[in-house]
Amino acid sequence: MTDRLKNKTVLVTGALGGIGSATIALAAREGAGTVVLADLDGARVDAVAAELCERGVGAVGIALDVASEASWESLVSRLEGEVGGVDVLVNNAGITNRFGVLETKVEDWDRVLAVNLTGVFLGMKHAGRSMVGNRGGSIVNVASFASYTGYRAASYAASKWAVRGLTQTAADELGSRGVRVNSVSPGFVPTPLTENAPNLVRSFSDATPLGRTCAPEDIAAAVVYLASDDSSYVCGHDLLVDGGFMSNTIRDVRA
Ligand SMILES: NC(=O)c1ccc[n+]([C@@H]2O[C@H](COP(=O)([O-])OP(=O)(O)OC[C@H]3O[C@@H](n4cnc5c(N)ncnc54)[C@H](O)[C@@H]3O)[C@@H](O)[C@H]2O)c1
Repeated sequence: MTDRLKNKTVLVTGALGGIGSATIALAAREGAGTVVLADLDGARVDAVAAELCERGVGAVGIALDVASEASWESLVSRLEGEVGGVDVLVNNAGITNRFGVLETKVEDWDRVLAVNLTGVFLGMKHAGRSMVGNRGGSIVNVASFASYTGYRAASYAASKWAVRGLTQTAADELGSRGVRVNSVSPGFVPTPLTENAPNLVRSFSDATPLGRTCAPEDIAAAVVYLASDDSSYVCGHDLLVDGGFMSNTIRDVRA
C-alpha cells in the first residue's frame, strides 16, 4: 500500500455502513492523518474511532445528520478548530426504499431526497467552502448505477441522477478554486442498504459481465483514487464501478 492520502484529513459520511467502513479502512491504510467518521449514531462513531486510535490511526467520530444544515455547520467548525479543516470529503451517506412512482408517499420521497441529495449539497456547501478558503481539496460523491437508468425505486433513482448532475455543476464552480469534485457510481453492493438479499446477489452476479457483485472495497478503491493526487487532472467525472453491469444490454434482474 502507498501513502496516497498522507497527512490528509478525510471525512466520510455514512461511515458506519458497508461502503463507508471500507472507505475509512482504506483511507487509514493510505496514510490519512485523520479519518473522520460521520454518521447518525454518535456513540457508535465514537466507539469505532476509539478502536482505530488504539491501532495507531488518527480517527475522530462525529455525529452528523447529513440532511441538517446546523449539523454540517457544527461538524465543519469543529474540524477547522481541531485539525485545521478538511482535505477530502466523501459524501457517502444514503438511504433507499423500494417504492415505484405510483406507490411513493410524499414523506418517503422527501426523506430520500433530504438524505441522498440535500445531504450531498450541504456537504459540498459547508466542507467545500472551508476547503476553498483553506488549502483546496477533493470531494467524492457516491451516486449509483441507478443514476444511468430507470430503476424501480423512484425517489432513490431521482436522487442519484441529481447527485451526478450536481457533481458536474459543483466541479465547474469549485474546480477553479482548488477543489476537485467527482462521483463514484457503484453497481450492486451487498450491504445493509441492499439487505444482503441472496436472490438479488445471484441475479446481479449473473447479469454482471465480471460475474460477481461489487464489494465495498471496490468502491473504496475508486473513492481513494478520486480523493488522491493520482487523479489530479480529473474533475467533474463519474466513475462507474459496476463490473460491466451497465454494458450488459439484457440486464434481467429479479429479486
Ligand atoms: N449498496 C449498494 O448496492 C449501492 C449501490 C449504489 C450506490 N450505493 C450508495 O452507496 C452509499 C453507501 O451505501 P451502503 O450500501 O454502504 O449503505 P449502508 O446502509 O450500509 O450505509 C449507509 C450509512 O449511511 C448512514 N446514514 C443514513 N442516513 C444518514 C443521515 N441522515 N446522516 C448521516 N448518515 C446517515 C447510515 O447510518 C449508514 O451507516 C449510499 O449513498 C448508497 O446509495 C449503494
